[in-house]
Amino acid sequence: MPLTLLALASYEKGHAFLREAKEQGARVLLLTSESLRDSAKWPTDSIDEIYYMPDVDKKWNRQHTLNTIAYLARTEEIDRLVPLDDFDLEMAAFLREHLRIPGMGETTTRHFRDKLAMRMKADTASLNIPRFVHVLNHRRVQEFTEQVPAPWVLKPRFLAGAIGIHKVHTADELWGHIHRLGDEQSYYLVEQFVPGDICHVDSIVDHDQILFAIASRYGRPPLDVSQGGGIFTTRILERGSPLSQGLLRKNQAVLAALGLKRGVSHTEFIVAHADGKIYFLETSARVGGAHITDLVEAATGLNLWAEWAKLELAGGQTAYRVPPARTDYAGLLVSLARQERPDTSHYQDPEIAWRMDKKHHVGFIVKSPSYERVTTLLDDYAARAKEEFNAFMPAKDSPVD
Ligand SMILES: Nc1ncnc2c1ncn2[C@@H]1O[C@H](COP(=O)(O)OP(=O)(O)O)[C@@H](O)[C@H]1O
Ligand SMILES: [Mg+2]
Repeated sequence: MPLTLLALASYEKGHAFLREAKEQGARVLLLTSESLRDSAKWPTDSIDEIYYMPDVDKKWNRQHTLNTIAYLARTEEIDRLVPLDDFDLEMAAFLREHLRIPGMGETTTRHFRDKLAMRMKADTASLNIPRFVHVLNHRRVQEFTEQVPAPWVLKPRFLAGAIGIHKVHTADELWGHIHRLGDEQSYYLVEQFVPGDICHVDSIVDHDQILFAIASRYGRPPLDVSQGGGIFTTRILERGSPLSQGLLRKNQAVLAALGLKRGVSHTEFIVAHADGKIYFLETSARVGGAHITDLVEAATGLNLWAEWAKLELAGGQTAYRVPPARTDYAGLLVSLARQERPDTSHYQDPEIAWRMDKKHHVGFIVKSPSYERVTTLLDDYAARAKEEFNAFMPAKDSPVD
């Protein structure tokens, strides 16, 4: 009997996951948002059935989703339930717990979704983290502002893409935001702003062991890009360099402390300018967004979506092995463009491995066996793209506006 895998996708993503699951012989079911019915271009050849959930801004009602899946389960034996988007993680865990489907349950999922839970768990494991406080008890918040030097960041516990994050410089400014949040306050935390380089490690884990991990460094910090504009870049770090080694070690400590048994993870760190120390920023139990899977694939040949599908289907019961990976280097650049259809035809270096095709955007991945070559090209492209294309649109914000 082939395994039946149900993927949850409130947003359109994970085509490579679905294709690989089919390739592996699974029966592939997809539950996605009704609002995507006409626009999404799912790889329908790899999907046996697609079901739609009514949504409000891609959010599904929990009870209705459970009813839908329980109804589906009258005729389908669901062996695996996998969330393709970060926002689907809690729903998947809730449904797994209810249907008793193996995989990450609700307690562990929280450590990979809730920025407060990850901070608290990391703290008990003595990992190096920015000082933080939950926006709950006002006396505790007051004490935090007295003890921890500004600036601070006020950040939502459950969002992504730097949405809703506020960098604040004074206690008055902070309280202004907090009061405006009203009943939303408890969904936020405040932490010390640690100036530094933002890095990420992307990993594959099975049986509590990291089987593959690769360290990269963003160019400008993602918060600066989303709030101040400019070019988003990230590049694979030189393998064996002290920074890359240090990040891989920290990544191992974080994933062990937070309890990832099997799956993929995108975990972020701050390398502090002040003391060079590595601070744990945030983690997730999914592949990185913003074309980071394409970056890793350009450098190694591994598609993390596809590897994730194999891992999920193996389910710890059949052997999973990471295929041999290349050890090339790659860099990724993405920018908003002033032009609707920006012309990038004069970017012609043979190292270009991917070019973005999206209205009002430019994007490239360059790859090379040489780290220096990738660095030179990426820096050059970033400077040119800034002149030729870059546009800025202030980031979306949350209730605190
Ligand atoms: N404590 C901090 N110190 C310095 N920069 C931070 C801090 N927290 C967040 N940032 C900035 O905000 C960005 C987004 O924060 P993060 O916690 O990674 O949330 P998100 O899920 O939105 O990516 C980071 O990439 C970094 O640029
Ligand atoms: Mg982040």
